[in-house]
Amino acid sequence: MITPIASRYPEVYARWQRDPEGFWAEAAEAITWFEKPKTVFDPKAGVYGRWFPDGVMNTCYNAVDRHVEKGRADQIAFAYDSPVSNAKRNITYKELQREISAFGAILRDFGIEKGDRVVIYMPMIPEALVAMLACARIGAVHSVVFGGFAPKELATRLNDAKPKLLLTASCGIEVTRIVPYKPLLDAAIEMATEKPEAVILFQRPQAQAEMKKGWDWDWAALREAALSANKTSECVPVKATDPLYILYTSGTTGIPKGVVRDNGGHAVALKWSMENMYGIKEGEVWWTSSDIGWVVGHSYIVYAPLFHGCTSVVYEGKPVGTPDAGAFWRVASEHGAVALFTAPTAFRAIKKEDPEGKFIKDFDLSKFRTLFLAGERADPDTVKWSERILNVPVIDHWWQTETAWTIVGNPMGLGALPVKHGSPTVPMPGYDVQIVDDGGKPVAAGTMGNIVVKLPLPPGCFPTLWQQDGRFRESYLADFPGFYKTADAGYRDEDGYVYVLGRTDDIINVAGHRLSTGGMEEVLASHNDVAECAVIGVADQLKGEVPVGFVVLKLGVNKPDDTIEKELIALVREKIGPVAAFKTAMVIKRLPKTRSGKIVRGTMKKIADKEPWNMPATIDDPVTLDEIKTALQGKGMAT
Ligand code: COA
Ligand code: AMP
Repeated sequence: MITPIASRYPEVYARWQRDPEGFWAEAAEAITWFEKPKTVFDPKAGVYGRWFPDGVMNTCYNAVDRHVEKGRADQIAFAYDSPVSNAKRNITYKELQREISAFGAILRDFGIEKGDRVVIYMPMIPEALVAMLACARIGAVHSVVFGGFAPKELATRLNDAKPKLLLTASCGIEVTRIVPYKPLLDAAIEMATEKPEAVILFQRPQAQAEMKKGWDWDWAALREAALSANKTSECVPVKATDPLYILYTSGTTGIPKGVVRDNGGHAVALKWSMENMYGIKEGEVWWTSSDIGWVVGHSYIVYAPLFHGCTSVVYEGKPVGTPDAGAFWRVASEHGAVALFTAPTAFRAIKKEDPEGKFIKDFDLSKFRTLFLAGERADPDTVKWSERILNVPVIDHWWQTETAWTIVGNPMGLGALPVKHGSPTVPMPGYDVQIVDDGGKPVAAGTMGNIVVKLPLPPGCFPTLWQQDGRFRESYLADFPGFYKTADAGYRDEDGYVYVLGRTDDIINVAGHRLSTGGMEEVLASHNDVAECAVIGVADQLKGEVPVGFVVLKLGVNKPDDTIEKELIALVREKIGPVAAFKTAMVIKRLPKTRSGKIVRGTMKKIADKEPWNMPATIDDPVTLDEIKTALQGKGMAT
């Protein structure tokens, strides 16, 4: 047993268990409703029930307008800090309201109505956040696509979301290069079968995009015109269950899943999390270093900090290289952030460049209280290093695009529980987390199993996939009836601490980015010379995991292996995007398979990770695994 400490967690979790609806009804008091929900949860609505089905509210009102009305008009809402473009800009709540209201009017002029989709393919600039909130204001549904994805990925999302309008900027800025977005966008629109009716583009000075007349519209000119004509838009009342956004995430095939977020439950859960999970007081300065293309960016750069009346730091830069490994300390100290939320990979990158933490000595971090890590497993070495360098609690927490907020964490606002390195701690109220075997039977403490959550999921979590209830049921609910399958594996210890160790599907986590190896295999298989292939995630010191591809060529191909390997690397970059970080492909003679023809990816991964492994009993030809080892050694990867 670990020593009990003064945390309200056990009492609060038990209170939720006793009366889940009472618990969430109380949490719902913290947001502003246009019509208060009379029903907290309707188990008959939707696929597994819906939260606050008769509540009416507006997400933008809760994020912005109500703070302007209640005394935060002159407080900074977004502190934009962009070392890559050498720009800084503070936007107060009042200014933000004006910008959003005007941009909402522009969207209206383009015929965007409640429920219409708007795709946002933009870098981390304030305009992108204004666009998201303007959609929320007028009841439109945004779908943000990460800038590191290739045109084909954008096209797939356009086909699924069917947006009327596409919002973009002329470029993104990476450490060593400018990424012009317009050619990517044009290629995506060309490929897509569902084309938007127009494009609004924000020109950045680093790259000017060429505009097509009557189709591409200049953001700045529209904004100017709207402001000088005093155009505004109102916060449209929406049902709590109306969609706020769709965010696509990797599934087990090349077709991404459109995770739907509703308005009411999302606002209630995120507001609750700021105070109770993160221990943040209203009005404090909060910083999440991620990208609005990911769920972490949606929840904790844009929505949650604003629901809580905080100042949110919007950082367009990297942990290293912009300009150095002191960048995070500079930003935290300059803005007076009380907490930082990022992915462990960012801290591994800093540790690699500045193992002694010399840079930190130059900055005043006296306001800084907590570092939060999520997005991938927080390896104990990185957590310990961060604790030593920062001398504050380092809090791992586990969640997914599907949930929008913490499943398992250490609730700083309720009183921190003792940290156990390697565990994100305990389930949050709302989540009945269980570890079960493949037949759905609970396993004993300390035994690995599938991590599942008893239905219903709490407010904030996805009610379904965009217009695909069937796929939702099949992907998440079918395997363990009555439970949500997280597709993560792990165990629980005697104290109830949960350990999350890896995925049960083909998803890998590359620098905190969730990617499908199945999707990469589809790309490799599309190469003319490839007969069959396998992609596995191999442990990497910096990125956590990196994808490695193995291909078997068609008979009669006589191109040199390294030419084909280079073509495959270029093909994945072209079809999925640089974010896949696919840098290693190897041509092999045959793939190791079981007698029934299944590729033994798990064993291949163990060999590549230099972990102990056993010859699978059903292997067709044991020599094939030696061949994998030799191929990896050829690339300097396995010993
Ligand atoms: N637009 C275009 N390209 C992008 C991009 C974007 N928005 N974001 C990343 N890329 C590119 C990178 O330039 C890189 O290209 P390269 O192959 O030409 O070098 C590639 O995609 C892979 O990017 P990334 O995995 O981010 O690696 P990196 O080497 O550039 O940086 C880290 C490594 C660890 C510094 C970086 O991954 C990082 O800061 N990670 C934090 C993770 C994070 O925020 N996760 C979000 C979930 S919490
Ligand atoms: P995403 O949907 O992109 O946020 O990725 C979610 C996946 O990332 C989870 O299913 C896990 O596999 C992994 N993940 C996120 N946070 C953690 C964590 N704290 N510990 C272990 N794995 C994590």
